[in-house]
Amino acid sequence: MGGWPARSTEWHIFDLAARRPKVRTKAFLKSLDKGLVLRTVARFALLPRGGPWPLEGIGAAVADGSVDANAENVQYHYDVSNKFYALWLDRELVYSCGYFANCDNDIDRAQQDKLDMICRKLRLQPGETLLDIGCGWGALSCYAAQHYGVNVHAVTLAKQQAVYGQEKIERLGLSERVKIEIRDYSTVEGMFDKVVSVGMYEHVGIRNYPKYYGTIQRVLKPGGLYLHHAITRPAKRDDRAFRRKRPESALLTKYIFPGAELDHPGNTVAMMERSGFEVHDVEGWREHYQRTCRHWHDRLLANYIAAVSEVGPAKARMWLLYLAACSVAFERNTLGVYQTLASKRRRGPSACRRPAPTSIAESFGLRPNGGGRGWATPGQDEGGTEASPPRHAHVPRERGALVAAVDDEIVALGLAADGFVDGASRRSLASEARSGLRRSAASSWPRHM
Ligand SMILES: C[S@@+](CC[C@H](N)C(=O)[O-])C[C@H]1O[C@@H](n2cnc3c(N)ncnc32)[C@H](O)[C@@H]1O
Repeated sequence: MGGWPARSTEWHIFDLAARRPKVRTKAFLKSLDKGLVLRTVARFALLPRGGPWPLEGIGAAVADGSVDANAENVQYHYDVSNKFYALWLDRELVYSCGYFANCDNDIDRAQQDKLDMICRKLRLQPGETLLDIGCGWGALSCYAAQHYGVNVHAVTLAKQQAVYGQEKIERLGLSERVKIEIRDYSTVEGMFDKVVSVGMYEHVGIRNYPKYYGTIQRVLKPGGLYLHHAITRPAKRDDRAFRRKRPESALLTKYIFPGAELDHPGNTVAMMERSGFEVHDVEGWREHYQRTCRHWHDRLLANYIAAVSEVGPAKARMWLLYLAACSVAFERNTLGVYQTLASKRRRGPSACRRPAPTSIAESFGLRPNGGGRGWATPGQDEGGTEASPPRHAHVPRERGALVAAVDDEIVALGLAADGFVDGASRRSLASEARSGLRRSAASSWPRHM
């Protein structure tokens, strides 16, 4: 298989997908030359296998949500070879959808941007505790500890991932901050400020969702944030129709992801609400995953010979086909992927609001100037006294301006109505807010600052 002409495979898969007839399958089948089909199938069936065929040993997966079944299913897919995954994932081995802030960004940049975006959506603050369910090779856990100062408990069921993750933690000097364990998510103990689960929910299985969300409820502190990131299928007219498996997804769950099942976004949100979460934000990333899978596919193809010597021809081919098929499925909208931000429900203000200022003015970083009704901007000293830092000094200045920019008119009007600022200051705040928004739009995602 090593001499297999790699480029021709690329052409086969993506060209075939692009040329797929727009007619319905039945009409397409009718139009085929039956003789040609039979001759082709016969030739294909009689092709020599080229050696032992390991796929026949693969039985139907057990997906009862038990720790043992979960471990067996996960290890089939992930404990293939760390070197194999390193041939086609990004440099941090992130195995989930990247975020392409710019279409031309490479996979390394897209994954780093994704990691940072998750940390910001979770509003991570130094010293907080984060549970990373299904941590893969530890990319997000290490990033969050390094850049946001949180203490992370990371769990995976894949032994090789845990070994790699532990080495990475030590290499980065993060042993005090990040703990990685081979552990089923359902057995995690303790309470966490934040919980994140990226690309893991697909392994849980629909019937095990109540246990899954029950676990997150159990370990999340009241008001704590939960970021959920998972591949989905579109909803069908009813649950029975949704659960009916098409041949391609049966193939995928048998040979690539045993025990896996996809949810639809409506059910994810309903399950969260039923399980005691408040949903704050749902964001579709379908096109980003189409692009991510295409990058992975092309990288695996470019390293095909090395991949074959690492995992053998059958697995290398299956993974190549699965990555191409997923890229096409995301492009066609038969697969989706959503990030959903939720919190453990509580009465009163949303847990998702920015760090609570005591007033609108303070959210701009303004302080009373000692004169009663006036306010000073940061850097502006009042009455010759040392200016005390704003109460929420850890909120970067740009972020304060940016949040305000989202609804700057409303906030500015509120400030004026409160008598905090005069007309000129109001105009300058609004312009500062707008320039904050422009800065952020240039650098990435205004919605999640
Ligand atoms: C697609 S990978 C995503 C890894 C990582 N979050 C990322 O984005 O790179 C899925 C991860 O979920 C983990 N996983 C699946 N089922 C699990 C379970 N029941 N308990 C703990 N981890 C699980 C796998 O071991 C794997 O690390």
